[in-house]
Amino acid sequence: MPERARIGVLISGRGSNMAALLYASRIDPACPYEIVVVGSNDPEAAGLKLAAAEGVATFAHSHKGLKRAEFDTIITRELEKAGVTHIALAGYMRLLSPEFVTHWQGRCLNIHPSLLPRHKGLNTHEAVLAAGEDETGCTIHIVTPELDDGPILGQARIKVLAHDTPETLATRVQYAEHQLYPRVLADWVSAAQRPEALLERVRGLALNLPAAAEKLSHGSPGFFVEGGKFFAYFTDNHHGDGITALLLKASGLDEAAMLIEQDPSRFFRPKYFGPAGWVGIVLTDGPDWAMIEAMMTAAWRLCAPRRLAGLPF
Ligand code: GRF
Repeated sequence: MPERARIGVLISGRGSNMAALLYASRIDPACPYEIVVVGSNDPEAAGLKLAAAEGVATFAHSHKGLKRAEFDTIITRELEKAGVTHIALAGYMRLLSPEFVTHWQGRCLNIHPSLLPRHKGLNTHEAVLAAGEDETGCTIHIVTPELDDGPILGQARIKVLAHDTPETLATRVQYAEHQLYPRVLADWVSAAQRPEALLERVRGLALNLPAAAEKLSHGSPGFFVEGGKFFAYFTDNHHGDGITALLLKASGLDEAAMLIEQDPSRFFRPKYFGPAGWVGIVLTDGPDWAMIEAMMTAAWRLCAPRRLAGLPF
């Protein structure tokens, strides 16, 4: 089974969504995520005590007196210390700095108590009642720089009743939230491990390099430098080997051998590539994308024509 995604949950209050995510992950042995840390901008947030009581690591830093980006750097540091792969915002009452959003791009979800795009921001239940709407609900979306925006991954709808107040609505919306969030988070982290998503990520990194292009080679998407050679291949179940991996040009057999010796669960010697010094990196066990990006750039340099490889980046 692939490693579980390591979720950091950020809260500011009660943390009932955090609790729903946590219990869902513990009830189901096949749950594709685990909550590894819960953080807050409010040291008094009730959810922190709940998480700690359940044996989950916690941290809290007050944002008072700090610039937004400075505070967010502290939060990122804490999350990375805990080995977080994805963030679930759950009632985190802080606007995020663009730096934070870019750093966690595509790896951060939020829950919002309305049917987005209706009623962004605060006081959503009041807004629903004032508009006389007959239904509301909650939305899980990927976090982008715009507040309460970003691709929607799931929604739950609930009816507004004749005598609803903001409080009664909030309670029912939360029932729905607690059902929706664990399910959407599980589907989302599983999707990120599917071969199509992994190829998309590899492709993004590869084609970002100067003069890089893609073509199918021996049934696998290969990436080469125009006027130069192939520096990377994406393989998925090649000849039925069951492995989804990135193959990268190494500086030689020594480098490949050293990596495999260092971490034989992550690196391997690709079949059919032996003498040329290629290394395979398994992509289904929580890959280290920063390392992959650096290794891919090095592979590109080995294969690029001189005039390109001299470029400073
Ligand atoms: C939820 O209603 C969520 O939609 C909103 O803040 C509330 C958090 O509640 N963003 P809790 O802390 O999860 O109980």
